[in-house]
Amino acid sequence: MAQKFKEKLIGERIILRKTKPTIEMARLIFHTIDANREHLRPWLPWEKLTKQVEDTLKYLFDKEKETEKGTKVEYGIYVNAEYLGNIGIFNIDLQNKTAEIGYWLSLKSTGKGYITEAIGLIEKEFFQNRGLNRIQIKCDERNTASVHVAQRCGYVLEGKHREDSYSDHFKDFRTTLIFSKLRSEYRPGSRAQKRTLLV
Ligand SMILES: CC(C)(COP(=O)(O)OP(=O)(O)OC[C@H]1O[C@@H](n2cnc3c(N)ncnc32)[C@H](O)[C@@H]1OP(=O)(O)O)[C@@H](O)C(=O)NCCC(=O)NCCS
Repeated sequence: MAQKFKEKLIGERIILRKTKPTIEMARLIFHTIDANREHLRPWLPWEKLTKQVEDTLKYLFDKEKETEKGTKVEYGIYVNAEYLGNIGIFNIDLQNKTAEIGYWLSLKSTGKGYITEAIGLIEKEFFQNRGLNRIQIKCDERNTASVHVAQRCGYVLEGKHREDSYSDHFKDFRTTLIFSKLRSEYRPGSRAQKRTLLV
């Protein structure tokens, strides 16, 4: 059986708490999405599909099945008691020791380094404590905020998947950048190494 994921990961400023399939959690996440639609819409196709609290609750139950299988865990990001957004690690493959990270913040929580700190906590848990060898970040090449996150956290740009999906928001094809970090490149406590190999 997969080793149980930690309930919380504690950083200097933030706490990551595992999201739960409860109506209270669904309401909290839904209302944060609902108040940040324009900010999230260009980059996260699920924003449009999240029309009511029940959609978020269903998502949380579906996600929980993956958590039980050990392939995904998602954490809410909190500063003091305030919920700011989510970070998840998914496609966890213990055979190949790989996974991918995804994240979002409410607009008012951006510009403070909270995602950079959250990625550091996820890396510590999954590189150091759970033995992953490779973590990937994928994003639309137009998503400069997310590209900067990957670069700031020392992820290496490996290449891009050209026009690999259609963006309903931009009404054209999206090119996806692929960044990764290897366990051998992981430096506990450090974050700002800017490295760009391709593009
Ligand atoms: C992508 C997203 C999470 C990035 O948020 P962000 O606030 O830019 O990222 P961080 O939390 O790491 O903060 C970094 C910013 O805070 C600043 N900052 C302030 N204090 C900081 C600190 N202690 N440590 C690091 N950065 C700090 C940085 O300079 C940087 O600002 P800049 O980009 O103007 O230089 C956010 O834009 C978002 O939610 N976008 C919509 C959803 C989305 O695109 N998700 C990703 C899909 S691939």
